[in-house]
Amino acid sequence: MTSVTAFVEGWDFVQTLGEGAYGEVKLAVNADTQEAVAVKIINLEKNPAAAEAVRKEVCVHKLLGHETIIKFYGFRKDGKIQYLFLEYASGGELFDRIEPDVGMQQQDANRYFKQLITGVEYLHTKGVTHRDLKPENLLLDDFDNLKISDFGLATVFRYQGNTRQLEKCCGTVPYVAPEVLSRKPYDAEPADIWSCAVILVALLAGELPWDEPTYGCREYCDWKDCKITQTPWNKIDNLALSLLRRLLVENGSKRYTINQIKEHQWFKKNFNRPALGQLNWLPSSPTNSPSSTGPFKRMCSENELSPTSHPRESFMPISSSQPESRHRLGSDGDTNSSMEPISRQFCFSQPVHPDHMLLSSQIQGTPGSSQNPWQKLVRRMTRFFVKPDRDGTKVELEKVFEQLGYNWKFNSPGTVTITTSDRRHIPLVFKACLLEMDENLLLDFRLSKGDGLEFKRHFIKIKNHMKAIVSKVPPTWPLVPSQIS
Ligand code: ADE
Repeated sequence: MTSVTAFVEGWDFVQTLGEGAYGEVKLAVNADTQEAVAVKIINLEKNPAAAEAVRKEVCVHKLLGHETIIKFYGFRKDGKIQYLFLEYASGGELFDRIEPDVGMQQQDANRYFKQLITGVEYLHTKGVTHRDLKPENLLLDDFDNLKISDFGLATVFRYQGNTRQLEKCCGTVPYVAPEVLSRKPYDAEPADIWSCAVILVALLAGELPWDEPTYGCREYCDWKDCKITQTPWNKIDNLALSLLRRLLVENGSKRYTINQIKEHQWFKKNFNRPALGQLNWLPSSPTNSPSSTGPFKRMCSENELSPTSHPRESFMPISSSQPESRHRLGSDGDTNSSMEPISRQFCFSQPVHPDHMLLSSQIQGTPGSSQNPWQKLVRRMTRFFVKPDRDGTKVELEKVFEQLGYNWKFNSPGTVTITTSDRRHIPLVFKACLLEMDENLLLDFRLSKGDGLEFKRHFIKIKNHMKAIVSKVPPTWPLVPSQIS
């Protein structure tokens, strides 16, 4: 294995998994045991305001233990740097499985949605609301099982049998329920359910239904007026649509509850997908999905909102492992158990005793070499192999970036940051890393800031522009341990 950076004795940072408002999430691997954990790193020097948000995130996340929730292993402080140790989900983010403007096969959407509802039901029984459910916060494990992550905006709404209403305007605008934007107290559970419904639209149609659920938004008014002949609705089959009709109901008290969702025909339908554990990790080919027939629809909102201002004005993103996207909203404040056995089929295992990481020595620096072979195991789809050598690829990249009107900057020899804006003029920042994998060069793209689906649209555009140099080397993951040493 090529060089990686030690952060506690015996553990190496081998890859950046994601970027957040307050720092990064990195993959740490135990050199001896190959145990893997995700480490969320928050630098309080750069973000003093994050301290309280992290405290709350830890408080809430440590209450939770369920197979649909990313496990919380522990927390450690090292001067101004704080570390959250989390279960590593090797399958990446759910948004990576969504083909922009297409979605995914209905059977896959149905399976992910069932797992999402199971997870949200668990959270609600524990009295916890997530408040920022979106595909970027839904991760996938070895077996393509969904795991809810990022409890940076989560809060307790029921404690010792006493339920409280929430007031803070929280979340990511296209996914938030209308009552969250209303600046009146609202019930926690229906608000999460609304976000699940918007996620379901994204899974089934590859786009979001509206920028925000307000009367200023034409797409939202059309939905309310039952005008469903246009995209995204015309890509969604009638049974799924009938469920969405019960979920995307403006009045939270009339919205379907989780019990009602579980009784709906689309939810109960058996789509004959292979049983869990026998799956290839890849969902079925999106080319079989219902095709887009309608005109393209805009999908993003550029604004973060504040509870005290007009929705289009000022929402501050708070503690997150996710990109500080344009529409993440603020938070308010409040406050282990059994897990199913985790797969050891691939080379990483999850730590049995993660405690020793929390007590150990100082962090020693920045992430390690971009060439390390562990990279192979993080199953992102936004990557491809290239034929030319490093210099040739760099020249080609610059040519394509120029054509596409991007701003870009090479940070280190193998990493370039691309800055652009999406179709709604919302900032979009992503990184491309050139990784040497044995004899091959892999170009790996990762979102830094902005909307996940928009990022994928840009990735597809770049890949199409680079057709001539894309190599057909098959992806090598999942690997068996012997391939890594
Ligand atoms: N990205 C953010 N958190 C992650 C986790 N726990 N596992 C994998 N990728 C992540």
